[in-house]
Amino acid sequence: MALNRRAQIGLLISVSAVAVAATKQCVQLELPIPVVATNEHYNIRRVDNDIDAVQWALDFSIWNQNLTGTTGLNITKTYEINAELCIPTQKTDKSDILQIAVHGNAWDKSRAWDVRVRPEQQSYVDAAINKGYSILTFDRIGTGNSSLVNAYDEAQPNIEIEILAKITTLARSGKLLSAAKIVSNADTTVPTLNPTQIVHVGHSFGSLLILGLLKKHGNMSDGALLTGFLNSKEFGAVPVGTFEHAYAATHDAARFGRFGSGYVVLTTLNTLQKLYFTEKTLDTELLDYTEKVKQPEPVAVYASARQVFDAENGGLFKGPVQVRYCPGTYDEGQMKEQWFPNASNLTVYVAPDTAHVINVATSASTTYKKMFSYLEEHGL
Ligand SMILES: *[C@@H]1O[C@H](CO)[C@@H](O)[C@H](O)[C@H]1NC(C)=O
Ligand SMILES: *[C@@H]1O[C@H](CO)[C@@H](O)[C@H](O)[C@H]1NC(C)=O
Ligand SMILES: *[C@@H]1O[C@H](CO)[C@@H](O)[C@H](O)[C@H]1NC(C)=O
Ligand SMILES: *[C@@H]1O[C@H](CO)[C@@H](O)[C@H](O)[C@H]1NC(C)=O
Ligand SMILES: *[C@@H]1O[C@H](CO)[C@@H](O)[C@H](O)[C@H]1NC(C)=O
Ligand SMILES: *[C@@H]1O[C@H](CO)[C@@H](O)[C@H](O)[C@H]1NC(C)=O
Repeated sequence: MALNRRAQIGLLISVSAVAVAATKQCVQLELPIPVVATNEHYNIRRVDNDIDAVQWALDFSIWNQNLTGTTGLNITKTYEINAELCIPTQKTDKSDILQIAVHGNAWDKSRAWDVRVRPEQQSYVDAAINKGYSILTFDRIGTGNSSLVNAYDEAQPNIEIEILAKITTLARSGKLLSAAKIVSNADTTVPTLNPTQIVHVGHSFGSLLILGLLKKHGNMSDGALLTGFLNSKEFGAVPVGTFEHAYAATHDAARFGRFGSGYVVLTTLNTLQKLYFTEKTLDTELLDYTEKVKQPEPVAVYASARQVFDAENGGLFKGPVQVRYCPGTYDEGQMKEQWFPNASNLTVYVAPDTAHVINVATSASTTYKKMFSYLEEHGL
């Protein structure tokens, strides 16, 4: 904390140059993704200030019991998706396996998957690379450097699942790089990518979107690691009201001024602690990090989570799936039957002393090892 910003940046650069620059090659991509999807129009309160934001959170639990929406909102649109592809510099026995990582609400790709506080422990990207995998992270619509969207009618699973399916199909067919505009520095060497297998890894709402992909397009995935995820009747009833939200654009105009109506943001360190951490694996530097990197979230994501549960299950997913659960209740039999009927293996694992976000817990590297050994046990 005592370091000034320039010194911190210098430190980050030198650390990454020593620790990882030699092992991974990364490129930033802009991917135009055309999508056709049918969303819903929900009866959601407009959120244009802090008063609305609090009222929205209070309303939510009521709506959740009886959510009214108009179905059949057809959307045909091309989204700009900002992504980062990292591959091991040296070919490994796993570099042809591509992990596609999907972040949760209120995060973006790099903040979630490439935590730069003690990256050797916390960065999932670096951990995957060190294990030999290739990895693609991308900003979901409405966050990071991907298209900003209407917070009510657009940011919904029906569209996000189709975006994930398109990205996966491009990667599978070896066309991801040719479909993208490379936005890294000119001297970056563009790698080649022809993955033989694809593993989807999610956090929280990202895991929910992957569940949607497995139900609707299950044969696109060879395996899945779902973190910060659970299966209970209460799943849809995320107690939004428990976690203080403010209207993003005015909460911090410098950071979030570009976000408009319907974008809310978690308010304080206390709220972030409640939502993301548990005492035994809390480190204050990582807690501070979550405040520095927090991102707005569009209100529709909460109202529309049901779309995933309601989606028909084609039963085409036949790979292994590891579900990492934050403590509470679940019904494993029901989960297998409803969500992964033809999965080759379903393993539920509760990460000890770890709350909702494994990536910022001090237990991260232990958790990552369990995830990779699960893949290895199942030939990935
Ligand atoms: C849910 O809302 C609809 C429309 O407002 C209403 O007709 C219905 O009775 C409500 N159902 C319950 C269980 O409250
Ligand atoms: C939306 O698309 C579906 C499927 O293509 C079609 O059946 C439906 O009529 C469309 N709805 C509207 C309002 O255009
Ligand atoms: C978008 O990308 C620019 C540079 O490419 C970066 O400085 C900025 O932090 C990114 N914005 C977000 C919200 O991630
Ligand atoms: C997945 O299944 C669909 C429908 O059966 C088929 O059209 C498609 O080619 C399959 N894709 C892969 C990657 O196997
Ligand atoms: C998936 O499993 C169900 C039974 O649980 C079976 O009826 C169905 O044919 C399977 N689907 C595929 C694509 O194997
Ligand atoms: C699923 O895989 C794990 C190893 O990753 C194994 O311990 C477990 O027994 C398997 N489950 C079933 C039902 O075979």
